[in-house]
Amino acid sequence: MQRLVYIDGQYIAEQEAKVSVFDRGFLFADAVYEVTAVVNGKLAEFEGHIERLQRSCRELALTLPVTPAELKDIHYALIAKNNLAEGAIYLQLSRGNAGDRDFHFPSAEVKPTLVLFTQARAVIDNPKAETGLRVVTCPDIRWHRRDIKTVGLLAACMAKEYAHHQHADDAFMVENGFITEGSSCNCYIVLHDNTVVTRPLSNDILHGITRHSLLKLAASNDIKLEERLFTPEEALHAREIFISSATTFVLPVVALDGVAIGDGKPGIITRRLREIYVDMVKQQVQ
Ligand code: PDD
Repeated sequence: MQRLVYIDGQYIAEQEAKVSVFDRGFLFADAVYEVTAVVNGKLAEFEGHIERLQRSCRELALTLPVTPAELKDIHYALIAKNNLAEGAIYLQLSRGNAGDRDFHFPSAEVKPTLVLFTQARAVIDNPKAETGLRVVTCPDIRWHRRDIKTVGLLAACMAKEYAHHQHADDAFMVENGFITEGSSCNCYIVLHDNTVVTRPLSNDILHGITRHSLLKLAASNDIKLEERLFTPEEALHAREIFISSATTFVLPVVALDGVAIGDGKPGIITRRLREIYVDMVKQQVQ
């Protein structure tokens, strides 16, 4: 089936969807994005993603050309037109086509470019939930506003590529001796007393929507939690490591820099958190 994508008010075949060479998303990565999971043909955690999108826009003085309610309708229209049962919707809003390359933000008359497309994939039955991920560490070379979800993702692509060359699934990025986050996920360790540790929110990491719900679920399920920095060394000696994101939900990490974590299998707390997170999503999308 041919995929239909959304671009500036129209639903068109993917090969027909074109953006100008002068679009600032293309020239300057002057664009923000969101990725929302789709389960059972419905959006998971949509409100959280839209609130974060609005925040990203505010931080960069970008104007959303549609209301949150209209955005929701666009998401659901794409799900229907593409018959998407499970996967994700990618949304990108760029500062548009100013007609030439100029660093200054263009005048308010320049319309932002809004693009959305669907991606079909298994979110719930991800085989990695059983096998776990192998992760390597690498330096975090990104800019200092990682709380804004911009499409300036070259450092993340390089980290992923580095992991790939090491025959690993992903990379955890390290700054000043502490793990910040994964190339496209938040990171957690589980201590030997079963306390979950994750880095506190700041401009150093993306404020994950999955992270936000997971911390609430952990608290209501009597899972101990500490928001503080942790080093790769501490992670190596942890009982468990796991990650979270909209497209992976919760996935175990079974090896870090070639060293097995715990017994080298997905841990109990990780499994439990994945289970309760998946349950929460399933309730949302009933
Ligand atoms: N990435 N940290 C980074 C750097 C991310 O890119 C992401 C998400 C997360 C997790 O955020 P959330 O739980 O809201 O998905 C943390 C998306 C999935 C992506 O770029 O495809």
